[in-house]
Formats: sequence, structure tokens, C-alpha cells
Amino acid sequence: MCGIVGYTGPRDAGPVLLDGLRRLEYRGYDSAGIALVTDNGDLFVEKRAGKVAVLTDALGGGPPSAGIGLGHTRWATHGRPSDLNAHPHSDCTGRITVIHNGIVENFRELRDELVAGGHTLKSETDTEVVAHLVEDAYKGDLADAVRVALGRLEGAYALVVMHRDEPQRLVGARLNAPLIVGLGDGESFVASDAAAIIAYTKRVIFLADGDVADLTPGTATITDRLGVVVDRPIDIIPWSAEAAEKGGYAHFMLKEIHEQPAALTAAMTGRLRGESVRLEELDGIRTRLSGIDRVELIACGTAYYASLVGAALFQDWLGVPARSTVASEFRYSPPPIDARTLVVAVTQSGETADTIAAARLAGDRGAVVVAVTNTVGSAITRESHASVFLQAGPEVAVAATKTFVTQVATVVMLAADIAHQLGRLPAETERDLVGALRRLPEQAERAIELSVAAEEIADRYASAAGFMYIGRSFGYPAALEGALKIKEISYLHAEGYAAGELKHGPISLLDAEVPLVAIATRSAVYEKLISNLMEGKARDARVLAVATEGDDQIGRLATDVLWVPDTIEPLSTILAVIPLQLFAYYVAVKRGRDVDQPRNLAKSVTVE
Ligand code: AGP
Repeated sequence: MCGIVGYTGPRDAGPVLLDGLRRLEYRGYDSAGIALVTDNGDLFVEKRAGKVAVLTDALGGGPPSAGIGLGHTRWATHGRPSDLNAHPHSDCTGRITVIHNGIVENFRELRDELVAGGHTLKSETDTEVVAHLVEDAYKGDLADAVRVALGRLEGAYALVVMHRDEPQRLVGARLNAPLIVGLGDGESFVASDAAAIIAYTKRVIFLADGDVADLTPGTATITDRLGVVVDRPIDIIPWSAEAAEKGGYAHFMLKEIHEQPAALTAAMTGRLRGESVRLEELDGIRTRLSGIDRVELIACGTAYYASLVGAALFQDWLGVPARSTVASEFRYSPPPIDARTLVVAVTQSGETADTIAAARLAGDRGAVVVAVTNTVGSAITRESHASVFLQAGPEVAVAATKTFVTQVATVVMLAADIAHQLGRLPAETERDLVGALRRLPEQAERAIELSVAAEEIADRYASAAGFMYIGRSFGYPAALEGALKIKEISYLHAEGYAAGELKHGPISLLDAEVPLVAIATRSAVYEKLISNLMEGKARDARVLAVATEGDDQIGRLATDVLWVPDTIEPLSTILAVIPLQLFAYYVAVKRGRDVDQPRNLAKSVTVE
């Protein structure tokens, strides 16, 4: 969703904010703006539809000198992307400015009330009402006024507010949208995530829902919405500023694909002990885990596809019903949940509104909730009884890659650990699993090397009218994820389908213009998959197969083959997806798409 950054301190605020916006742009990029209280005491606002580069161009010789300011990059919810609807938004006096991520759900009612009270609102956004509410509440203390205004808001927000007459002070607040405070030496930052400020400080406070942060250079006072001071720990961000740079790659996505071997190593660090899997993060909930009789996984998008692997293994290894449901459906049509239900929420960002709401509902109904996330301090960790981190490092490209493979590896380890605890995982199965996990980073490296053909193959497929991806069993999540990658970054339609379902309808889409991409890695259902592949071939479709090294029949059946190393079936999803990521990447590049920031998308979706 939107990216937020604020600064108060001795540096020149304009460049700090623009640098932060460039790093946050993956959160949303349909418009951008900054507001500064200049060294002359004026409020300066510049905002533009388009990317941060458009804003930078509009600033010409650069923003005026200032020690305080706000910056925002937007993913539109209310009001189309335009200069007028871009943030920051101001009140009638032009002294108060606000940036916001989230949705003020009662904004129409508030807007009508404000207009009736004599306010003039200029934009179509929900956010602008906040500036006017603060204006009404302002009696000389910005934090007090913000707290009063917050009392009127329904919905979700991460907000930062600045007043021209208090030129060293920023006030931030969060409810169901991420916001962190950065503590520098004589300077303070506020941002929607660490990427924006990591170049300046690693010391951060993850605000909790309901917190209000009152910031001056070098001081941060956190209160609740009534003004009562609350104590929040200071955390240290474990990664460097360089980790969130492109490091010589043309795109973040390509860099992150190449980081997968290292990300897998990190995801397993400390979790493989001899011939066992052990997740210490579960130690506090072992008693509850011992009684579970059902597992529900909840997630969205790529994380949902990763969670399908977990569902299959929980069911297989624990011998209890297990399934995965997209969080937005789970929430409004929940299954029976009680204290014996384990709910696993899988989310890279830890901020996805649908997943958080579903996890909260499950927790309220008594389930034991475990988060699988990449983001320490994220909202999902507060909804969960235990959190297992991916340890994948920052992922900047909107299209998830390294977080998909680490999500799969982590849910596999989670299922194995719990099955072991319950005494239901045969020692031989666990030994084989641990051996395969240990080989995985090297095999991921090999899968990348073997995908050298992906660029040339993509060249020949880039003008296709669409794609049909098929897979069975553990190949099915890889097919879904491969198709999503194509859709997201090349804007071509791609369908991910259970291969056995092809003949029940979608086969009619296949022809010479719509290739079939078949996940045909070694598995118990290989022969069945080959039959489905042949069905497509018989309809004149070109067939691109992902197959296991050493398969000497696939070359005769498929038009093109992308090879991967052999592994055990539960881990085959991880290796199969790697050539599909690269294939999607090169198709998108050939089609001239904006790979890292595809249209209409945002990295984390903090609205329902
Ligand atoms: C994947 O490429 C997308 N960025 C998207 O499907 C994403 O996985 C989904 O929005 C869920 O995000 P989360 O993992 O942060 O919850």
C-alpha cells in the first residue's frame, strides 16, 4: 500500500525524504509528494501523479532547505491518481499537513460534517478529512489535537501529521497499518517500513495498534490515544542498507531470484539439528500443539500458494484434516474453530489486512495461531501465539520470489517439527527430509544455472496470447505461482490449473497461441501429468515443461524444457518455481514491462 516517511533533525529533510520515498516506492507508486517546513518557516508542498521520479523532476533544483518534513508514495484507494489526490493533504489554514496509509471508512460522513462546519476540502481522498479534524481540534499542541481527531476515525491508518507552527515536531499514529519510529542521534524518523530509514538508523520502535508517537529531533514519546505514555522496546534492524539495493542487477526481482540459495540457507539456520527439524519458536506453545486435531492455513496470493504445500504435509504427516484457505474467504466464511485448531498465517509482509483479520478471528475463537512471516515486529506477530520468521532478508520487488521459496521451506519445517513432537513423523521420513533440506540451497543454485535457457525460451514465448500452467500434487502450487508471476509482471493472462482439471474446461483455451506450461518433475503422479501434457500437445499448443534432470523422455514430448535438480516431492515446489520465475522475468523484460513495480499492484496490501 502507501509508503510513508517523516524526518525531524539537523539534516536537510528534503533529500532524506526523497531517498526514503525511492526505497518505499514498491509499496505504491501512482503518485508521490513531500511537505516541508522550510528554514524560513513556510510550509512547502509538492505532489505529483506518477512515480517518485516525476516528483523529483517537478522539484527541479531540489526541495527548499528544511529540517522537518513528510513524504508519501501512494497506491490509490479513494480518488484516482492525480496531483490533487496525491498526499500530503492540508487543512483550510494551510498549516497542518497529513500523510496516510489505510482507509478512513467513515470519511463520507466526516466529510459532510466538515463541509457543513465551513471547511473546504479539495481532494477526493478519505485522508483529507484528517487534516481538517486536526485543524478543528488544534489548541496549540499537535499531539493532543491528533489524539482527539483519531477518536473520530473508523478504519485503518498509519498517519503522520506536521504543523507549520511546531517546526520540530511530527506526530504519528497507527491502527491496522504499519508504522515504525527510527531513533537517530539527535534526529527522529517515522516510516511505514525500515527500508526507508535503514541508511540512517537501525534503531527502531515498532508501533502497536492505538499508539501515538510524538517525535522531536532525538526524542520519541509513545502514548495511547488517551495520552497515557506506553513503553515500547527498541529493536535493531538486522539487515544492512545494501541488502535493499539492486547490487548490480537490472532489477530487484532478478537480484532476489539469485538470492534464493542464500535465503534458503538463512531460513534453515538453527532449525536443522542432526536428523531432526526443530523450531525453537514453538517451545512456548508445545502443550497446546500436543492437542491439535485440525490445521487451517490462511494466506493471500503467493503466500497462499506456499501454504498449500504446508496443508498437504500437515495432513499427511499429522494425520489430521488440514487445508489452506485464502484469508479473504476464510474471514467471512470461517470453518469450525476451537482450542484444538492450529491456524497458520503465512504472510511475507506480516501486514496483509485480510490475513491479519483472519488470524484475529481464529485467535478470538480460541485457536492456537502461528505466524510464518518475513517481518519482525509486523502486525501478524501480535495476532499470533508464536512467530516463525523466514529470515529471507528484505524483498523489494513487488513480485515475490525468495519469500515464496522460504515460505515453502518454513511451512515444511513447521509441519515436520509438529509431526515429530506428536510422534507421528517416521524417523526415516524426517532423516530424508533433513538431508534434502540441507542439499536445497546448492540445488537452488543449480536450478538457477540450469535456467540459463529461460531467457532464450522467453524470447520465443513472449508474444503468446496467454499461458496455461498445469501441475499435480506438489507441482500444482508451482503452477499457480508460475502463472501468477507471468500475470503480475508481463500483464499476460496465465491460468494456473490442477492438471487433472484441464480436460474439464480450460483445455478449450489451448491452441498455437496459448502454450501449455507443465510442471513435470519426478513424482508419483508423473505419468498422469504426462498424459495431461499430451492432451495439450494434441491441441497444437506449444509445451514448455519443467522437468527433473535425467528425465530422458520429456525432451521428445515437450517443445522446450527447463531443467531442475531432483529432490524429494515436498521440496520439488521450491526447485520447480525457480525457472518459472526466471521465465516470467524475461517475458516481462521482452515485453518492456516495469518488472519491479508492475501496474496496479503494491507490495503489501494493508486494505481489505
Ligand atoms: C506476490 O508476487 C504478490 N506480491 C502477492 O500475491 C503477495 O504474495 C500477497 O499480496 C500476500 O502478501 P504477504 O505475503 O505480504 O501477505
